[in-house]
Amino acid sequence: MTPIIQKLTACVSSAFEKAGYDPSLGVVTVSDRADLCQFQCNGALGGAKIHHKAPRMIAEDVAAILKENGMFSLVDVAGPGFINLSLSDEILIAGLDALSHDAHLGVPQTEKPETVVVDYGGPNVAKALHIGHLRSAIIGEAVKRLAKACGNNAIGDVHLGDWGTPMGLVMTELHDRHPDWACFKDDFDPAKDEVPELESGPLNAVYPVASARSKEDADFAARAHKTTLDLQNGHPGYTALWKKILAVSVADAREAYDKLNVSFEYWYGESDADRYVPELFDILNSKSLLRESDGALVIDVAKPDDTAPMPPIIARKSNGSVGYELTDLATLIQREHDFAPDRIVYLTDARQALHFEQIFRASRLAKLVPDTTSLDFLGFGTMNGTDGKPYKTRDGGVMPLNVLLDTAIDAAYKKLTDSAYLSDSDDEEKRALAQKVGIAAVKFGDLINNPTRDYVFDLDKFLSFEGKTGTYLLYTVTRINSVLKKAGDEEGKIHGLYSDTERDLALKLLLSGDLFRKAWEEKAPSYICDNAYQLAVVFSKFYHDNRIIDEQDADKRASWLALSALVRRMLRLHLDTLAIDTVENM
Ligand code: ARG
Repeated sequence: MTPIIQKLTACVSSAFEKAGYDPSLGVVTVSDRADLCQFQCNGALGGAKIHHKAPRMIAEDVAAILKENGMFSLVDVAGPGFINLSLSDEILIAGLDALSHDAHLGVPQTEKPETVVVDYGGPNVAKALHIGHLRSAIIGEAVKRLAKACGNNAIGDVHLGDWGTPMGLVMTELHDRHPDWACFKDDFDPAKDEVPELESGPLNAVYPVASARSKEDADFAARAHKTTLDLQNGHPGYTALWKKILAVSVADAREAYDKLNVSFEYWYGESDADRYVPELFDILNSKSLLRESDGALVIDVAKPDDTAPMPPIIARKSNGSVGYELTDLATLIQREHDFAPDRIVYLTDARQALHFEQIFRASRLAKLVPDTTSLDFLGFGTMNGTDGKPYKTRDGGVMPLNVLLDTAIDAAYKKLTDSAYLSDSDDEEKRALAQKVGIAAVKFGDLINNPTRDYVFDLDKFLSFEGKTGTYLLYTVTRINSVLKKAGDEEGKIHGLYSDTERDLALKLLLSGDLFRKAWEEKAPSYICDNAYQLAVVFSKFYHDNRIIDEQDADKRASWLALSALVRRMLRLHLDTLAIDTVENM
């Protein structure tokens, strides 16, 4: 389906041409005065210079031609030469009909589909997921779904942090605590010996201790580095232990992501890039990109015109191990090999901006991916508490993700039980509903913001039934559900538009698709949130103004039901793209 703005621009451009003016002046935009008209064209103002004529005269000439065209219910010249336009009901209805038959519900499909790898989530093995990982998961999933909605082939990769110094720290601490474990003995035999079962709670408690210890105890730090190196070199005992740790952490992460309705096509980790490390060093060597510095090997990525410091990348540490930077470079080779992507989008906290700038520069220098492959970094802002400081646990610690989600679900449960909505559901139903409402509130509350900005995590606000909240949107969908259910889910057809609110609704529906394109291009799911909200607001007005079910005029009733059904499909498409589950009723 061609976006309506594009169709209108074509129509107005040809009117400019017919009237003897430059057709490129016929660009149509959505009106910024919705009270006056639906669309506007300001081209006549720019035409004055080209055609040496008063803009108002140009606009009048073009308007005369447009008036001949039955498309419009309004063609008006305003002010110095703005052309104001509104579509006729017939055109709006035909548009809605086409929309309802479009498999993509009006979302323009890209002419050049890209293979896009979205690198998001990024949990670290042996560390509990914390709220820093929440945004990456939520925004990343939405960005991936946006790419798909626009017709691209999008692949999500979780990129587990499973290969760097943190692994060495955790394993060294475990070694000190359990020197008797077979995996720490020289004669460890993976065929015979086993690593004891690990549990995620105690396991996740190890890293903070080990990390603090490494800062005070140089010997411990050195041993941890050696352990990392040995692991990277395939030490059998460490490898067996690492596999155990990995399994526990992956199970943990999966549980959290399932709750969040986030899923990855690939669960690759940094370790999966390890087999590309020799190839990477060959490339770096052949291009003379490695330089020795204090026993380490580094890659210089600074450019003469840099205004901010651009430190070199450490390719190989002095003890021989490789770190976060190098695994990211090796991962580029892996991705090129596995997927040959046209674009890779990385999502982390904005504080990793320098890291990614270094990686992107090095990959261009070494030509790890074709020059045509886009490397995008989407760095998001911090989630703050209502005090404006980074959201913390009550005792000031980093908030574990599951605690945060449980807090939201509990608050949703309380809200739902306190309200009249659920008077006749049993507790199990309420719990299930609270789970969806709580998660929707958290996700929408995050996604409504421009991803690069900080935002305030305010559960009370997020759970409100009014305003730009996930709760309001879920609620709106349930209202439509109940109307359509009462009507016996009959398939109606739109015969007419009986009020300006319906015209608004029609217009919103017809313009929604293009926002998906814009949201994908700018990697900004917030447009989808905002549009879903706008649509829900207009629907709510329509719902309040009319008694849909009781309407006696059969055509009107059928039209209203069809319009409601189309709004529901559109809202669901929005919410599904945001990976927010809807609920049947509440
Ligand atoms: N594990 C990393 C962290 O927690 C995030 C990984 C992001 N992706 C990447 N390719 N570096 O900071």
